[in-house]
Amino acid sequence: MSHQTVIVLDFGGQYNQLIARRVRECGVYCEVKPYTTPLDTLRAMDPIGIIFTGGPNSVYDPASPQVDPAIFTWGVPVLGICYGCQLIAHHLGGKVIAATGDSAREYGKTETYFDTSCRLFKGLPAQGITWMSHGDYMEKVPEGFSLVAHSDACPNVAICDEARGFYGVQYHPEVNHTQHGTDMIRNFLYEVCGAAGDWTMGDYKATAIRQIREKVGDGKVLLALSGGVDSSVAAALLAEAVGSQLTCVFVDHGLMRLNEGDEVEAAFQKWDIHFVRANAEERFLAKLAGVSEPERKRKIIGEEFIRVFEEEAKKIGRVDYLVQGTIYPDVIESGTGDAAVIKSHHNVGGLPDYVDFKEIIEPLRMLFKDEVRQLGRELGLPEYLVMRQPFPGPGLAIRVIGDITRDKLDTLRLADFIFRDEIAKAHLEGTMNQYFAVLTNMRSVGVQGDGRTYDYTLALRSVTTTDFMTADWTRIPYDVLDRVSVRIVNEVPHINRIVYDITSKPPATIEWE
Ligand code: XMP
Repeated sequence: MSHQTVIVLDFGGQYNQLIARRVRECGVYCEVKPYTTPLDTLRAMDPIGIIFTGGPNSVYDPASPQVDPAIFTWGVPVLGICYGCQLIAHHLGGKVIAATGDSAREYGKTETYFDTSCRLFKGLPAQGITWMSHGDYMEKVPEGFSLVAHSDACPNVAICDEARGFYGVQYHPEVNHTQHGTDMIRNFLYEVCGAAGDWTMGDYKATAIRQIREKVGDGKVLLALSGGVDSSVAAALLAEAVGSQLTCVFVDHGLMRLNEGDEVEAAFQKWDIHFVRANAEERFLAKLAGVSEPERKRKIIGEEFIRVFEEEAKKIGRVDYLVQGTIYPDVIESGTGDAAVIKSHHNVGGLPDYVDFKEIIEPLRMLFKDEVRQLGRELGLPEYLVMRQPFPGPGLAIRVIGDITRDKLDTLRLADFIFRDEIAKAHLEGTMNQYFAVLTNMRSVGVQGDGRTYDYTLALRSVTTTDFMTADWTRIPYDVLDRVSVRIVNEVPHINRIVYDITSKPPATIEWE
């Protein structure tokens, strides 16, 4: 794909993905590479600029991550952020030391003053808030560099050597707390690196379609459609590219939300593809009958899913390519170690071991989630699919606590629908990242009409999170919770009590099972 590239060189900072997203938001393609990537590999990418990220280390520590010094004679502009800035100073003859006292160590929002004759700050206000998070301090600025920003406590907030194209900022321009931070990144890209802004979703779509056609030729393509955003967008892209050569297998395990299966099917009507909806509800419910242990549920569903998919794939016969909806965060986060297994996540879509095929196609490998959504829109997928919140592979099976029956699933489906409906009516979707109902296995006494009831308690759950590894419970306004509660107890049989889950993760997890 011919577009300009910026490299984000990763030194272990917590905002590295955010930097990459900001660059792409500015219309420039970028990739995150570990700091250990050999210089030759970086050179082969022919970047127009490099951004050094922040990181938790101190540059003067001999064990800290370093760069090949030849990077500074290569002639490619560099922007260093926080640790990255200190790295530039350290390598080019400046001096970085541990900050002592309040004079130079800064955390949080800091009033900052800029020299707007520097290209990084061109056209921006001369004063504004920046987000600081550094414990080290540039005591001596390298030769050839000018100081181009300061705060009340620190004289060296930003440095630059315009002639060589080196820029360093102590603060984090990529986070929202920094005013005009994205504009500073844009200035680096356009004013310093000479970016052309050739990364647009329309271009990406056209190029991806062309490349898929070239690769697939007249081959046959198979895709496991889960109804989630990634597999749906991948399916739409393939449908647009190779239409009738594509088979999408959508395993309907009967554990979806209200109308979900029909919505997914409807969204793909407009393409001339082979759409297989395997109605496997009976099979799944039979296997799950009497099972209440969460990990067992996951295992049964995972195994049964593969079996159904395999059977459908066999009916199609020879397949050349299998499509997977892997996205960029999966690529950069993959292989991160030894964290304890809390839940065995079964992700629908990764099935290379069970079906015979020549090659895997991962058409979304380069895209962030928001870019995937944008591509979905470009392809004409409906908003309800493009904006769909994450939904676990095992579906409602892990939201019916204890054993699963169709009646319980129907009860949960209706209650969950009402919750989502009221959130939509209150225009609150943007304030939460995942929200759903859980049918607890607990019953309690209530009174409805003139009679005693002994019915289920339903729990509402909503979280706000960026990475789903940690999450905060959402402060939903009481009047919205009240409307949800009143509607559910009136409209859904067998529920007489509603509770709202106010635990964050950790110590709880997002799902109840
Ligand atoms: P937890 O409950 O572990 O959830 O805090 C974190 C995120 O993962 C989703 N999740 C799953 N996704 N298969 C999936 O594909 C699973 O078995 C599974 N369990 C949890 C959950 O919905 C949340 O977004």
